[in-house]
Amino acid sequence: MESAGVVVVGAGIAGLTAALCAAEWDEVCVIAGDGPGASSSARAQGGLAAAVGVGDAPVLHADDTLRAGAGLCDEPRVRELAAEGPDVIAWLTRMGVPFDRDPTGALLLGREGGHSRARIVHAGGDETGRFITEALWRAAVRHPRIEIRRETCVAVAQDPTGRAVGVWTWDGRAYHGVAARRAVALATGGVGALFGRTSNPQTALGTGIALAYKALATLANLEFVQFHPTLWIGPDGDVMLLSEALRGAGAVLVTERGAPLFADPADNLRTRDVVALAIAKAEEAGERVLLDATRVKDVTSRFPSIAARLARTGIDIAAEPVPVTPGAHFLMGGIEADLAGRTSVPGLFALGEVACTGVHGANRLASNSLLECVAMGRRFGRAMCEEPSVRGETPVEPRWLLQPTEDAQVLGELAPLMWRCVGLVRDEPGLCAAIERLDELRAQYPGSGAVVTASLIARAARWRRESRGGHVRRDAPAPIASYARPSRMSMEQEISNL
Ligand code: SIN
Repeated sequence: MESAGVVVVGAGIAGLTAALCAAEWDEVCVIAGDGPGASSSARAQGGLAAAVGVGDAPVLHADDTLRAGAGLCDEPRVRELAAEGPDVIAWLTRMGVPFDRDPTGALLLGREGGHSRARIVHAGGDETGRFITEALWRAAVRHPRIEIRRETCVAVAQDPTGRAVGVWTWDGRAYHGVAARRAVALATGGVGALFGRTSNPQTALGTGIALAYKALATLANLEFVQFHPTLWIGPDGDVMLLSEALRGAGAVLVTERGAPLFADPADNLRTRDVVALAIAKAEEAGERVLLDATRVKDVTSRFPSIAARLARTGIDIAAEPVPVTPGAHFLMGGIEADLAGRTSVPGLFALGEVACTGVHGANRLASNSLLECVAMGRRFGRAMCEEPSVRGETPVEPRWLLQPTEDAQVLGELAPLMWRCVGLVRDEPGLCAAIERLDELRAQYPGSGAVVTASLIARAARWRRESRGGHVRRDAPAPIASYARPSRMSMEQEISNL
């Protein structure tokens, strides 16, 4: 087995931040898969939420986050995260991220749903994720203590005590072992590609969750999938997010007949769960919904990549409303972790979207995800100086190896099934049907991480017989006080809190 001090799986914003910060203490190996361009981070448009504006304060940011989270947030962690926002912006600026500024050098701040203040810091107008990812990637590539491997992680290596002591990877031809003297961090992103319609890249298959589950880590809140209200589906079926920042700048949702979707225009900036559900209801009633940005001043220069992509298909966002529809966007749940990423498995950390720290509760506030990625990555890096550097014992035979080819084989059936039965609006018969079919697929494709994660999401969604935040049940349309707690599951106990 080759070895490094720290192994980081994933090359999105959480993984790269973690690698750069851990490299202050030790050698780091990044298992980068298809590279940073394939991460959800690189697609993030709106920006990064931080209380840096005049009249704003972390306490206000935290209050908005708690309100969006619908009773399931971990309040002390929310407050810690919000307090760190300004420092995260300063660190990224030092890393070379060219945030958008006015001629005096002050940060330009956007507005998004659920925020009581304009506090969305952005870069390149609507390409914040790409700008941040590229700056961090450039720094990682030239860092003398960071090695980058374009391989796929197929298992967490564990010693006989269960401690994570490295990973097994696949390079398309052979398996490799990479030992980690201090820690293994999973920063593998979310699950959007498990659903038929998503803003995420096709790599967002929830494999980090399956890897952690097989390593016996505790998972939490997997039922909470956020559906972003405004995806645009192109003529070839390609999907693009139309950033919520467009509504923050004044765009409004209208029906095909030109009527406003919301009687009160302020409701266009309600949290995503509310707006996505309103669109889904209109669609159920046979009405298409469009995003009208024709009154947004300088829309093509403020949102250049969105405008350019639409223009390539003949749509002028400045002149006509654009059809939109909701799609899977973000997983609030994941591998249970603290803000430095520590999980229930010694030596195993989870960072960014794959982690469930409790800061998003039942519904993530817009642009808090990039903030969480950077804040967690930096805390993980600092935690590495305390983590003992020991050569772990020889790993035992892995209990499971991910077979990426099986994910590719099963996705054609899996994604439509998840969309139909575990999508934006759920009910008992649909969830039971999904669980039954997913169990069959689990037996048929035992190496598919996508199937494992999908079936855990469906089980968690069945357990939660209420509607709260991003989890909506037709057969239990309101929150129920006895469910105001996280769901937890592990391989030893498929779901607890029952
Ligand atoms: C968006 O720009 O609408 C998405 C940003 C986010 O997911 O917070």
